[in-house]
Amino acid sequence: MSERVVTIDGPAGSGKGTVGQQLAIRLGWHFLDSGALYRACAYVAVQNGITAETIDALLDHLERVRFETKPVSQGGEARVLLNGEDISAAVRTAECGQMASKIAVNQNLRSALLNVQRKYCRPPGLVADGRDMGSVVFPKAMLKVYLTASLKVRSQRKFKQLKEKEISLKYDKIYKEIENRDLRDSTRRHAPLTTPEGALVVDTSSLSVDEVLQLVLDGVYIKMNTLESEAQ
Ligand code: C5P
Repeated sequence: MSERVVTIDGPAGSGKGTVGQQLAIRLGWHFLDSGALYRACAYVAVQNGITAETIDALLDHLERVRFETKPVSQGGEARVLLNGEDISAAVRTAECGQMASKIAVNQNLRSALLNVQRKYCRPPGLVADGRDMGSVVFPKAMLKVYLTASLKVRSQRKFKQLKEKEISLKYDKIYKEIENRDLRDSTRRHAPLTTPEGALVVDTSSLSVDEVLQLVLDGVYIKMNTLESEAQ
């Protein structure tokens, strides 16, 4: 039996965050930005002097913290709350992204976050974005989407996003940072970034957000119709 979950996986800058939030708002469903959870963990680790090498010490802290990710309606990235405090700006830095990618290789941390993520699956439905949403966290999702784009386009998008936030970072540095994260995320032993079986794969390099959103919405409605006629 499939779950009322749409998973959207893909590398950094593929558009999954923007499309995922818009999709959740259009469907009136909950939204999980799992990358934000890994970033929030990286933030808690740094605040407590924990490094990628001593990451198991973070697991005790996780029992005492409450994360939330909230979609925003007008573009931008989802808001991230830690015990009710808005830490969105702090977790969206390139450094926090790198730290998140380093701690995300740890299997104990990934297991601890499994339940946190699965609790987001509540009626009427969930849109979940990340790296292993379709392959590991929600294997019974009714629709699995994999978004991708060239490294150049993804770096340009991140460059533009940072510029809009008035953060000046050299394009070459962003390109290198994304390239590093791609490599680490797709070659790690546990839950690597991968195209889930049966996924709807969309190369977003030359598509607008609205065009990608429409393709994914079409996929959702086709799945819903199929599930409805199977139930009759
Ligand atoms: O999606 P975002 O770029 O915010 O994710 C930050 C990092 O968190 C990724 O580079 C990846 O290492 C890790 N991550 C993960 N599994 C997920 C989501 C994010 O390992 N489901």
